[in-house]
Amino acid sequence: MRRLYLYATAVFWLLVATVASVGHWWPAADPAGPPAGERTIPAAELARHSLPDDCWMAIRGVVHDLSTYLPEHPSRPSEVVPWCGREATEAYDTKNRGRPHSARADELLTTYRIGRLTEEKP
Ligand code: HEM
Repeated sequence: MRRLYLYATAVFWLLVATVASVGHWWPAADPAGPPAGERTIPAAELARHSLPDDCWMAIRGVVHDLSTYLPEHPSRPSEVVPWCGREATEAYDTKNRGRPHSARADELLTTYRIGRLTEEKP
C-alpha cells in the first residue's frame, strides 16, 4: 500500500513538472498580439492595394485584406472604398459619421488580418 502511495505521488509530481515546463516554451495565447512570423507591410505597399477588388486597409497598425469582404459590407461602396490602400482607423472607428462598429464587426475584422504596418525609413 505504501509502495502504491509513493508511486502515485511520484507520478503526480512528474505530471506537475511536465505541465510547468511545457508552459515555458508553449507560445502564450494572446489574441491581441501579432501571430508569430507575421509579415510587416510598409505604407508604400499598402498604398498599392487601393482598388475595390484589391483592397488593403490599416486599422490600429494592423493591415487587412478586405478584397473578398467589400462586396458584403452593408454600406454603400462609396463609404468604404476610398479607404482602401490607406490608414483607416478613424474612419473605421466612426463609420465616417461618429458611430463605432459593433463587436461583431471587430471580430470579423480579425479574420482578414495579413500583417503589421511598419514605419518607413526616410
Ligand atoms: C474604414 C472603412 C469603413 C467604413 C467607413 C465603414 C462604414 C460603415 C457604415 C457607414 C456602415 C453601415 C451603417 C451603420 O451601421 O451605421 C457599416 C456597417 C458595418 N460595417 Fe463597416 N465600415 C468600414 C470598414 C469595415 C470593415 C473593415 C469591416 C469588417 C471587416 C466592417 C464591418 C461592418 C459591419 C459588420 C457592419 C454592420 C454594423 C456593425 O456590425 O457595426 N466595416 N460600416
